[in-house]
Amino acid sequence: MAQMTQTTIAKIGEHVEQTVTIKGWLNNRRSSGKIHFLSVRDGTGFLQVVMGKKDVDEATFQKADHLGQESAIIVTGTVQEHPKHPGNYELIASGLEVVNPANDYPITPKEHGVDYLMDRRHLWIRAERQTAILRVRHEIINAVRDFFNNEGFILADTPIFTPAACEGTTTLFPVEYFDDEKAYLTQSGQLYNEANAMALGKVYAFGPTFRAEKSKTRRHLTEFWMVEPEMAYADLNDVITLAEGLITSVVGRVLDRRQKELKVLERDTSKLEAVKAPFPRLHYDEAAKILLEKGLPFVVGGDLGGTDETVLSEQFDRPVCVTHYPAAIKAFYMKPDPNEPDKALCVDVLAPEGYGEIIGGGQRLDDLDLLLQRIKEHDLPQEAFEWYLDLRRFGSVPHGGFGMGIERCVSWICGLEHVRETIPYPRMLYRIYP
Ligand code: 4AD
Ligand code: MG
Repeated sequence: MAQMTQTTIAKIGEHVEQTVTIKGWLNNRRSSGKIHFLSVRDGTGFLQVVMGKKDVDEATFQKADHLGQESAIIVTGTVQEHPKHPGNYELIASGLEVVNPANDYPITPKEHGVDYLMDRRHLWIRAERQTAILRVRHEIINAVRDFFNNEGFILADTPIFTPAACEGTTTLFPVEYFDDEKAYLTQSGQLYNEANAMALGKVYAFGPTFRAEKSKTRRHLTEFWMVEPEMAYADLNDVITLAEGLITSVVGRVLDRRQKELKVLERDTSKLEAVKAPFPRLHYDEAAKILLEKGLPFVVGGDLGGTDETVLSEQFDRPVCVTHYPAAIKAFYMKPDPNEPDKALCVDVLAPEGYGEIIGGGQRLDDLDLLLQRIKEHDLPQEAFEWYLDLRRFGSVPHGGFGMGIERCVSWICGLEHVRETIPYPRMLYRIYP
């Protein structure tokens, strides 16, 4: 008997004409009566296993004909490359072991509604599409880390329990801390990141962040992952250049390494190939002009809404950087442009194809007096920000950075309708189970 090697579906191409064993689950099956076609998945991929009546004993053939979807199985067989589709493999079965039979798996190959699937998210993530998305997510996260590490940024984590709001308390989740003290789940590591940048020069934080805003859109989660770089001695231009570098590097890496997943997702990759620096830059006033020309009910001076972002980002084949939002509608820590003090030195990067904002950031207010004034104007408790003000008291320098939401990035790169599929267990306004 040929020697048997245990392998994974991802590596099956290294074993053509050899006998191998795959440990996995039954995804689906059909039968012609004389041949069973088992679709098997093992976490690394999906594989067609062909079981001919004459290739196995009668009991095994019978067993395979009654296996329920998601039964845990170990299959043994010979690897064959598809004669007409090189790179496609199948396994000609010689053996089958049932590790745990499953019956009445609730997610069948037929279409199910979104709520039904979301209630069964712990099982839904086994689907081929969902595993493809989660693999792309993994690639994006690693590409982000590699990018910053190669650019000389130091990973310096920021706290999740915070004593005060970074951008106002209205969108914070309070938690009970000891002795009746109240803490909040962080909505951004930025302020601590600024302190870290003054210590280490170029830093990034990467972790979960929380937003209690009651937004029920295809772009909002209440818990999401954000990567936040921050640089000392940097201006808005440096921040935009960094954002361009990050995005092109991440998109390039996914195109390089995740073609298989993008194919499963039926992603039009030509749209991603077009993502090259430099990105167009649009002053807020120009953006407003475009929106008004398009007949949108946009109020000049106000923030861009989801629809505004969609319309703007549809005008370009690559991400667009919208700068100089009115200072009045932006966070207290943003530096006003000395040439037009009513505008902030900020940038939102909008992903193309209507995906909208994936990055928000800019240059920080580095002047002590102006920062104090802003804290008052925003009705924020100054005591809570004393440590932050210290950064302006001791060696203040121009600095800036941004935050990129991982789920929005995954949603765009995968071409999804909604961010709920970009993270294993999405947390949303009306969803905290499972
Ligand atoms: O624009 P935001 O709110 O910026 C900040 O928090 C800055 N303090 C970051 C910084 O400069 N260090 O959020 C940044 C990004 C957004 O562009 C978006 O990609 C993502 O975080 N984001 C969300 N993603 C999913 N669900 C939500 N509710 C999100 N809110 C923001
Ligand atoms: Mg923003």
